[in-house]
Amino acid sequence: MKVTTTLARCSTPDGRPMLLQEHDGHYFLKVDGVTLMSTMATASEQQMAELAGEISPRRVLIGGMGFGFTLRRVLELGTDEAEVTVAELLPEILDWNREHLGAVNGSLMDDSRVHVHLGDVAECIDRAAGGRFDAILLDVDNGPDGLVDGGNDALYGRKGLKRIKSALAPGGRVIFWSANRDRSFEREMAKHFNGVRSIGAKAYPKAKRFSHTLFVGDR
Ligand SMILES: C[S@@+](CC[C@H](N)C(=O)[O-])C[C@H]1O[C@@H](n2cnc3c(N)ncnc32)[C@H](O)[C@@H]1O
Repeated sequence: MKVTTTLARCSTPDGRPMLLQEHDGHYFLKVDGVTLMSTMATASEQQMAELAGEISPRRVLIGGMGFGFTLRRVLELGTDEAEVTVAELLPEILDWNREHLGAVNGSLMDDSRVHVHLGDVAECIDRAAGGRFDAILLDVDNGPDGLVDGGNDALYGRKGLKRIKSALAPGGRVIFWSANRDRSFEREMAKHFNGVRSIGAKAYPKAKRFSHTLFVGDR
């Protein structure tokens, strides 16, 4: 029988147990026993980067780091001139990437094109008012409907969308990862962005169904 090893543990800011585990060569991040992320299902995270890549962005903001699959694909598609800011709320996620996931994507944080911001991605968005970023990729929660961290709610509302728009350069693109489709969020996005669309995303390349949704909009 394959053994599950707990590599590290901590508490989330709201006091729930969070574990990093390894099983059969794959890594799992669990909060309260529920898997929030794993290295087995990363296609939708990479697809976000590919949708951003369509506009060849130079300055990119990614929130959050997770296991770094979005970051890896952004760097693969980016030029030497790319500037990529990765915002991550939890210090343990950055530490665990460096200590335990170096062979997965953890070493990408040392890429000279990458700037790591330990804190809320909303801070980076607010500092970028005036249109600093060509692309903003937001995979910080389960999506507009079904948030894990209530603090992220502000990103998906009318004010949050306006702040994101002003952080984007003209022609820039925002992409939200979501566990669910959400027509009302798509309608709200369409009030602020051009060409808004919901794109079905697979958890892994051979999956039969599109289990996630990527919301895309252009400034
Ligand atoms: C689902 S994971 C991201 C997965 C990532 N796209 C990947 O490729 O592995 C969500 C991450 O966002 C972080 N996070 C949650 N809220 C955040 C916020 N407001 N600002 C920055 N990071 C946040 C979480 O700690 C977690 O590391």
